Amino acid sequence: MKIGLLGLGTIGSGIYEHLKRRDDIEVVRILELLRHPGLEHLETSDYNEILNDPDIDTVVELIGGLEPAHTFTVQALKAGKNVVSANKLMISHHMEELLTLAKENGVQYRYDASVGGSIPFLYNLMRYRGADDLQSLSGIVNGTTNLILDVMQREGRGFDDVLAEAQKLGYAERNPAADVDGIDAECKLCIASAVAFQKYVKPEDVDTEGIRHIAAGDIIHFKQMNRVCRLLVNAAKNPDGSIRAYVEPTLVPADAMEAAVHMNNNTISVVGEYCGLHTFQGQGAGKDPTAFAVELGLRDIMDGVTARLNPIPEGYAAVDNRQARHAYYLRTSAHPGVPVEKLGDCEGSAAYLTEPMSVSEMHALAKDLRDKDPRLFFAGIRD
Ligand code: HSE
Repeated sequence: MKIGLLGLGTIGSGIYEHLKRRDDIEVVRILELLRHPGLEHLETSDYNEILNDPDIDTVVELIGGLEPAHTFTVQALKAGKNVVSANKLMISHHMEELLTLAKENGVQYRYDASVGGSIPFLYNLMRYRGADDLQSLSGIVNGTTNLILDVMQREGRGFDDVLAEAQKLGYAERNPAADVDGIDAECKLCIASAVAFQKYVKPEDVDTEGIRHIAAGDIIHFKQMNRVCRLLVNAAKNPDGSIRAYVEPTLVPADAMEAAVHMNNNTISVVGEYCGLHTFQGQGAGKDPTAFAVELGLRDIMDGVTARLNPIPEGYAAVDNRQARHAYYLRTSAHPGVPVEKLGDCEGSAAYLTEPMSVSEMHALAKDLRDKDPRLFFAGIRD
């Protein structure tokens, strides 16, 4: 198998290092603007050199971002090349187009490395199609924020300090906003939901809240409540056929499974009518685990393991988060404007517990209150 590798960042250099040790998969061209000592003979700034090379059968897209990743992928699929990618932002925005193009051109588009890193989650979920009717999925899909929340909880350290550590370890996105504002998790939720429920989910339909404003004072309250904060993605079928899909910091009981998911690990659970509860856990971020997942995709293509791995969802899901309800922890200096019980003072604001309210109501309330209190923080409370 001959590979054109797009991007030599953290994951790109990881996959290059892995493949250098193989004799059946060879990186023959690398699209990169920078030049790396010893790799100049492979590096090019001209994508056409990959696109027009008949020896290259597969493109590995690891440049990240929407463009030019999207255009390059479309061109590769149209040129009859397989594409393997871990670019969750681009996939979540263009999934329908890319899966359709791959089918039309008789090639593989493998994106199972995009959610859960090395965990064989999407791969397995694709195979459930037809055999079970999945009802829900939930979990921790962002390693950076899990590391931040876990270390803040266990060591009492501040948010900025731990974020800098996650960036140094190579888990955080180049722009940490994608991690800490929940965007990375939102993209992964859209991809996972499309596979689980066989309906595409638009990122803009998901209610998303990140952890940017969590403070050490909040954690003190969580400990008093015997709870642990995790950034969870949630999607489930509503009784009327719509789905609920949201990302939010969530207070789980201290003995919940998610509370025991430490550092940059991920966990994703699905519930099906026949399979019951399946939980996947492992390394969801980082150079080696993600490069491993990309290599699995390459090996599947090389070995012809393609059947059932490219389900094409039918249409778009109607997302309705009014049907998901629970109580919230809310810390704000503004007047909450909804019935609350005051827990105490916190970070110059007050911490409250709300009555059960819908997810869409809470996310809309937080948007309104942020005009008065930009540092507001809230977290759903899970039984
Ligand atoms: N920034 C992402 C994370 C990388 O921390 O999970 C893996 O997708």
